[in-house]
Amino acid sequence: MTNRILLPESELPTHWYNAVADLPSPPAPPMGPDGQPVGLDALSAIFPPGLIEQEVSGERWIEIPEEVRDMLRIWRPTPLVRAHRLEQALGTPAKIFYKNESVSPAGSHKPNTSVAQAYFNKIAGINRLATETGAGQWGCSLALAGQFLEMEVRVYMVKVSYGQKPYRRSLMQTWGAEVYASPTDMTESGRKVLAEDPESPGSLGIAISEAVEEAIHRKDTNYALGSVLNHVCLHQTVIGEEAKKQMAIAGEYPDVVIGCCGGGSNFAGIAFPYYADKAAGKEVRLIGAEPSSCPSLTQGVYTYDYGDATGLTPMMKMYTLGHDFVPPGIHAGGLRYHGQSPLVSQLVHEGLVEAVAIPQLETFEAGLLFARTEAIVPAPESTHAIAATIREAQQCKETGEAKTLLFCLSGHGHFDMMAYERYLVGDLEDFEYPSNAIAQSLERLPKIA
Ligand SMILES: Cc1ncc(COP(=O)(O)O)c(C=O)c1O
Repeated sequence: MTNRILLPESELPTHWYNAVADLPSPPAPPMGPDGQPVGLDALSAIFPPGLIEQEVSGERWIEIPEEVRDMLRIWRPTPLVRAHRLEQALGTPAKIFYKNESVSPAGSHKPNTSVAQAYFNKIAGINRLATETGAGQWGCSLALAGQFLEMEVRVYMVKVSYGQKPYRRSLMQTWGAEVYASPTDMTESGRKVLAEDPESPGSLGIAISEAVEEAIHRKDTNYALGSVLNHVCLHQTVIGEEAKKQMAIAGEYPDVVIGCCGGGSNFAGIAFPYYADKAAGKEVRLIGAEPSSCPSLTQGVYTYDYGDATGLTPMMKMYTLGHDFVPPGIHAGGLRYHGQSPLVSQLVHEGLVEAVAIPQLETFEAGLLFARTEAIVPAPESTHAIAATIREAQQCKETGEAKTLLFCLSGHGHFDMMAYERYLVGDLEDFEYPSNAIAQSLERLPKIA
C-alpha cells in the first residue's frame, strides 16, 4: 500500500503554467481611479519589470529562472500522499490524495512565490521589500527569501494574528525581518484606521495598505504581495504541475481538485494545471473552500474593487465583500481577506470553478481528524480544504462512488496551537455570517463609470 509518491529533484518544473492563455475570455484589466485601465508605469512604482511582465502575460508557459529553481529545490518537489487512514476513518469508498506543501521551510506553499518575487526584485536592483502578512506564513516566507538574496524585509502583520501567533513573529525575526502589528501609527493608512477604531483587530486589506504606502513613498523599497495577483498564482502552479506527474505515477486522475481560498493562490497552484485539461475538454471539478465568516466567493459581488482597505492599489475585477470589510477574528488568519484573485474569480463567475463556504468549527473538526489519522497538524487555513474534501468523501459514502479526490495541504499548524488549544477546550465559536457589516461595506464599493 503506497502512501507517499515522491519525485526526484530533476522533476522540478522548468516552467510556470499561465491560466490566462486558456481563459474563455480575456481577463478584465486593473483600473485606475479615473475608471481607465492602469498603465504599466503605475505598477512600476511598487513592482519590478519581471513581475509586471508576468502579471500581464498571456503566454501559456513562462520559464522559471535557474536561480529560482535552485531555491525551490531546497524543499521541492513536495510529496503527494494517499490519505489511507483518513479514508478508513471516514469509511468512504473515495480515494483521497493530498499535495503536502507543509514541508517547505516556512511550513506552507508561500515560499514558492516569495523566492521568485525576491529574485525578480533583486535583479532589478531593489534590496528592500515591504509586505503584509495574515497568518504569518507569507511574512515568514518573504523573510526567508530576503535571507537567501540578502535583502531587507519589513512585515506589517495583522494585529489579531500578531497576538495569536507570537512565534510566527519570532520566526520572521529569526530570518532577519522587521515585524509590526498592523494597523500601526507609522503610516497614514494605519493612522486613519486607528482614528476610526483604536481597537481595530486589523485585516489583510489594512496591512496591504500600509505596506503599499511604504513602497510608494520609499524609492529603495518595493512591495511584495503573498496572494491574489496573477503573478503570484502563476508561481504557485509548480504545485499542480508536480501533482499531475505524481497522480499519473499513482495511476489516477482526480475527479475533484480542492484548495482553500484566501486570496486564491494555493487553490490556483493546485487547480490551474488541471484547469488546462478542463479547458481542453476533460471532466474535472475544481472547488475553492472559504470561511463562512469571510465568504467572498459565495456571498460577495463580482465587480471592481480595491485590493487594499484604503484604496491605494488599482481596482481589480473580483469577488469582493467590500475593501473596508473587517472580517471576524477567525483563526484562519490567511483567509481573512475581503477580495479574491481576479483569475479565480473569473473562473467562478464563468461556472468553471465551484466554491463552498465552511464554518470555523467544522474546519477544526476536520483538522483534528486529519491530525489524528494522517499525523500532520494542518494550518487552520488548510483545514478548509480538508473539510471540503471530507464533505465530498461523505457524499461518496452515500452514493457508493469511488471518486478520486485531490486537495492541497497548504500548510502545517505548528504555530497555530493556540487555536487548537481553544478548540480542544471548547472555547471556539462559529461566527454569524456578518451580513450587516458586509452590506455596509458593499455600499462603499468604488463607482466605475
Ligand atoms: C497555510 C495557508 N494556506 C492558505 C492561505 C491562503 O492564501 P491563498 O488563498 O493565497 O493560498 C494562507 C495565507 O496566509 C496560508 O498561510
